[in-house]
Order: sequence, then C-alpha cells, then structure tokens
Amino acid sequence: MTEELIILRAPTVADGADLWRIAKGTGVLDTNTPYAYLLWARDFAATSVIAEVEAEPAGFISGYLKPSDPETLFIWQVAVDANFRGRGLAKKMLFELVERAGAARLETTITEDNAASIALFTALARKHGTEIARRPLFSADLFPSAEESGEAHAAEDLYVVEPLARQSA
Ligand SMILES: CC(C)(COP(=O)(O)OP(=O)(O)OC[C@H]1O[C@@H](n2cnc3c(N)ncnc32)[C@H](O)[C@@H]1OP(=O)(O)O)[C@@H](O)C(=O)NCCC(=O)NCCS
Repeated sequence: MTEELIILRAPTVADGADLWRIAKGTGVLDTNTPYAYLLWARDFAATSVIAEVEAEPAGFISGYLKPSDPETLFIWQVAVDANFRGRGLAKKMLFELVERAGAARLETTITEDNAASIALFTALARKHGTEIARRPLFSADLFPSAEESGEAHAAEDLYVVEPLARQSA
C-alpha cells in the first residue's frame, strides 16, 4: 500500500483563499475575512502552516510571535477539513510549526466545549514533557451580543504550554 503524500509548509498568498475555505468549512471557527487570510499568509507565514494531502489543501494553523514577548508563539486558528480528521494531521502541523518557530512557550485560547482542541494541545505538552496550564482569558461578555453578531460567542480560556523543548526529537 502506498502512503499518502503529506506536505507541510509555510503558506503563501496563493493559499489565502484556501485558508479561508478551510476555516469556513469547519462550521465552528470564527471565519475571518478572505483579506485577513491573505494578509496572514503574507505577513505571518513563518509562524503558520498549511497541510496538503495528495496536493489537496487539508488543514492549516495560523500563529504569530507576540510583539510584546517574541518568545511566545500564539496559535490563533487550527483547522482540519472534515475529510482529513482523526488521523493525526493537526498534531503533525502543530509539532512541525512549534519546531520551526523555535519559541520558548505557546499560548492559545480554547472554548471549554472543544475536546479535540484541548486534546491537541495536551498532546503537544506531552511530547515536550511539559505542563499545560489553563486560566480564563476572554469572558463571553467581552464579545458582541448574539443580537448584534447573530451568534453568541463562548468564553475563551487561555492555555499555556511551557517550557517548549527546542529542536525536540
Ligand atoms: C481540532 C481539529 C483541528 C483536530 O484535527 P485532527 O487532525 O482531527 O486532530 P488529530 O487527529 O491530530 O488529533 C489530535 C488530538 O485530538 C484528539 N481528538 C481528535 N478529534 C477529537 C474529538 N472529536 N474529540 C476528542 N478528541 C479528539 C486526538 O485523539 C488527539 O489526541 P491524542 O494524541 O491524545 O490521541 C479538528 O477537529 C478541527 O478542525 N475542528 C474544527 C475547528 C476547531 O475546533 N479548531 C480548534 C480551535 S482553534
């Protein structure tokens, strides 16, 4: 049996529309404007990753190094197309990106109902032999109301994984 060809790489502006399509296709992520994904692919490519499975866009992670603390990699969105879930693709992308970015710690936010995302970042902590800590960050009342935005936004907890092992095996 031949193995599927999986390519993990930094996105380019030519991937911007695919990032938007994948995010929208999850049905659960906040879908940012198409422009935001193009901008991300241009200015934050070094801290983002797109996965292609047999040349098909299958998932992405967007992240940035915090301007106030460039040792911290903040992960914004993680998305895997439904056809490619449950086979370790998000883990592959996250592990590759963390290694490439070389930061000392990782931050992300997760809503409390997102078991897959919590498992993903817990797996990262396990791989790096380190801890994952959670604390409240954006309470639900900080977001626009359901009347204003069409949908209530759940509270986002901050998860911190540190220290990250650089050049981990
Ligand atoms: C979250 C998401 C990116 C995971 O992608 P994936 O490629 O299926 O994840 P992986 O196969 O790499 O699995 C990562 C971990 O999550 C666990 N996991 C995957 N799907 C799960 C689910 N539905 N429920 C509970 N755990 C789950 C896996 O078992 C694995 O943990 P383990 O190493 O302890 O076994 C994907 O489900 C997705 O795109 N969801 C919609 C968007 C979203 O919620 N993004 C995260 C918030 S930014």
